[in-house]
Amino acid sequence: MSTESKEPELMQKIVSLCKRRGFVFQSSEIYGGLKSAYDYGPMGVELKRNLMNEWWTFMVTSREDVVGLESSIIMHSNVWKSSGHLSNFTDPLVDCLVCQERFRADKAPKLAQGEPAPITLGDKGRAKLAEDKVKELLSAAGQEALVKRDGTTVHGALAGDRGYVCPNCGSPLLSAERDFSGMFRTNLGPVDPIKGVIDAVKLAVSEGKSDKELRAVAEEALAGTSVYLRPETAQGMFVQFMNVQQSQAIKVPFGIAQMGKSFRNEITVEHFIFRSCEFEQMEMEFFCPPGEGPKYLEYWKDQRLGWWKSIGLSPEKLTFRKHDEAELAHYSDGTFDVEYEFPWGWDELEGIASRTDYDLNAHMTGSGKKLHYFDPEAIDPATGKTGYRYVPHVVEPAAGATRGVLAVLCNAYNEEIDDKGETRVTLKLHPRLAPYKVAILPLVKKDEQLVERGRAIAQRFFEAGIAARYEDQNTIGKRYARHDEIGTPYCLTIDSQTLEDGTVTIRYRDDRRQERIQVGDAVDVVVAALRTGKL
Ligand code: GAP
Repeated sequence: MSTESKEPELMQKIVSLCKRRGFVFQSSEIYGGLKSAYDYGPMGVELKRNLMNEWWTFMVTSREDVVGLESSIIMHSNVWKSSGHLSNFTDPLVDCLVCQERFRADKAPKLAQGEPAPITLGDKGRAKLAEDKVKELLSAAGQEALVKRDGTTVHGALAGDRGYVCPNCGSPLLSAERDFSGMFRTNLGPVDPIKGVIDAVKLAVSEGKSDKELRAVAEEALAGTSVYLRPETAQGMFVQFMNVQQSQAIKVPFGIAQMGKSFRNEITVEHFIFRSCEFEQMEMEFFCPPGEGPKYLEYWKDQRLGWWKSIGLSPEKLTFRKHDEAELAHYSDGTFDVEYEFPWGWDELEGIASRTDYDLNAHMTGSGKKLHYFDPEAIDPATGKTGYRYVPHVVEPAAGATRGVLAVLCNAYNEEIDDKGETRVTLKLHPRLAPYKVAILPLVKKDEQLVERGRAIAQRFFEAGIAARYEDQNTIGKRYARHDEIGTPYCLTIDSQTLEDGTVTIRYRDDRRQERIQVGDAVDVVVAALRTGKL
């Protein structure tokens, strides 16, 4: 996996640890890798599942008013038409005319109108090529005299009236913005969509249609079999609202939660697993009576911030950011992001949005089906009579699971210089998130009695349902270092004294202190840490 050189040093170290210790690998690595997708290795899959299980327990199984759902990833194209994704789920795409970087205009570095834009060209040959290109483009724009070279930086190109510059080289010399759909389209059914497109386009060409018309013809030929991979899990909850509500006889206010994969054809994939094209979300749609959205928005903000803290993220690295009017999604009348301070700065971890009755109304219009709720005991504000039929409003806490894994890794990563001057890395994970809760390590492999005793102790943990790892390869120091790096909270060392008095050395990951305890107490120590989160 390539460590992105533009990443802060800490990120590079985390990416390297993830590969070295089997948390995250580049997808299809032996074929050169797929830039926007990742595979979770043996340690990563445990960490991600532990995180998602924590979310499920907090959001679903520990409450009476939220139920679960697992809807399909492929959904009817009308779902996305009604939800607004087919028309609104686009990003403004721009090409840099100097370095050819393709990027999102709304995420590009801002520059005030007319402010000089220093363009970083890179080294030697590339810099020369780029400088020639800049001169050519500036000359075409009548700005030739403004070029001034200083090392690999060219000063003086004006930002123009665009208000932003290329995130790669800083150039304000850019293509026009065009809409780019973030939806992944595919075809369902045993048909050959390409044949239909060829036939339709051939006919249109023979009729002398323009390029724009040919595109429309091709789109129409595809439309019959087109389906989309979901870009959010949320719509599954809206379109199954009635089935869930009626099958469970559950009363509003209540929530439907789901975790799973979502897909977005992102223009810019960045910061390792932070923004990828295939990722996992943990979302909940909380349905409430009209007018109660603001109350539940505040309630879920509190709940969600508390949860991120409860799984070990440092409180001072978490904050809320309110969306201003211009930023609000088309369905929302109020949104707050939970932001985490990642190594590159504050960035989004979760969005908590008041979605009003937008989605249920949109699906009622699109499907012609009623998505109402009838409360026989409530007073209808319009008539003053008992019995109130309404379209519920929705508050949605929408968190990233894969992004959550990255936040947890960043928060847990710790480096210390040991007595020998060597750097020791420890992942100080919450015990419930750690892939292994305990490692059982016979001091030496050669002593059969120690091996036998160690295996018997490991068995006790397996029987208690605790993820444990028995290991007798390598020196004890190397084994401790490996378990520090994967975040194992406890190591139990079996030595000759164990055979004499039934005690083991327990080594605590975070401060590496060691003490002797009875073998019989070891399971209880680990169980207590899982309950309290403290080592
Ligand atoms: N249903 C609302 C919704 O999907 P969003 O803010 O677009 O809202 C929710 O996504 C969360 O999903 C984000 O806060 C982020 O954690 C995660 N997420 C979104 N796009 C992502 C991507 N390309 N890669 C990784 N995580 C992503």
